[in-house]
Amino acid sequence: MKKVNFLFAALLLLFGAVLTGCGTVSSNNKNVAICFPNTTPSWERNGKALNDQLVADGFTVDMQISSTSEQQVSQVAEALKKKPNCIVIGAIDSSAFVEVLEAAKTSQIPVIAFDRIIFNTDAVTYYASYDNDAVGEAQGLYFEAALDLKNGGGPYNIEFFAGGPTDNNAHIFLKNVLEILDPYMKKGQLVCRSNQTDFDTVAVKDWYAENARPRIKELLEKYYNGETLHAVIAPNDEIAGVILDEFKKAGRPLPLISGLDADPSALDRIRIKEQTFTVAKDPERLTAKCFRMIKAVVEGVQPDINDVTTYDNGVKIVPAYLCTPMIIDSTNIAQYY
Ligand code: BGC
Repeated sequence: MKKVNFLFAALLLLFGAVLTGCGTVSSNNKNVAICFPNTTPSWERNGKALNDQLVADGFTVDMQISSTSEQQVSQVAEALKKKPNCIVIGAIDSSAFVEVLEAAKTSQIPVIAFDRIIFNTDAVTYYASYDNDAVGEAQGLYFEAALDLKNGGGPYNIEFFAGGPTDNNAHIFLKNVLEILDPYMKKGQLVCRSNQTDFDTVAVKDWYAENARPRIKELLEKYYNGETLHAVIAPNDEIAGVILDEFKKAGRPLPLISGLDADPSALDRIRIKEQTFTVAKDPERLTAKCFRMIKAVVEGVQPDINDVTTYDNGVKIVPAYLCTPMIIDSTNIAQYY
């Protein structure tokens, strides 16, 4: 009798192991790992919005937040050991995942790159983001119109800042801004007195806004002593906040200045016309798309994709869904926020 019981228990265990091993998906055993940075408030908003949608749909979420690339890579490794049904990564360093994602391939775990592309690995299944070219274009076009450059406006002084070098988006933003504004610098309608327009010089390490402070301070003292700096390209709202702070400290007239993310503090500055505009990347829209993408890959069906050409990660073209960003300035802020 004892022997029969033992056999039955062993069979049950075996049956259970087979079920777990084959990753059968039902509404209450879907696990998603989310590995996001904590570098700006927008990440927190995106993380919360994505988590809430997943939990409401019965997913279990393993949320990992990191402040350095090393920490993030080890969090991804740990998360993959738990064999989630899908992993979503907001990369701190777009190039840091080549080795760690080998485990995702081995275990056939779909990988979704969120907001930032992941380079040099075919383990990335899909990319959910805003149209990053459109973000830079929107910033450039706003300055073109505000300074009436098409009709010969100027000369105006301008300086540039860009995001963190390990984030591909930062490169795309600056490239697109310059594509629009460069011709006006060549014509002398825009003057960059520091002559600093190359990415490495104007980048703000790790997107940490405080890293922009010494440079704007130096620019104002060195190149704009007795001169007005009319316009500043700030790659996101936090960096715009620090730049504006330095203008105020120096008692300078505030410049036309861009931003990105529609952070609450930036919206306040737009209302009182301190910050000229921001580019809004609504977390609800992006996370709703990403949520549907996660559901699709977990259920093994094709997700909604609207771009199959732009994001070559060095190994493959990553199929993407790109949302359209929107300009928010003092003329339309009341309509949206
Ligand atoms: C995102 C921006 C964000 C920045 C800093 C970029 O990759 O696209 O929205 O402000 O990272 O976190």
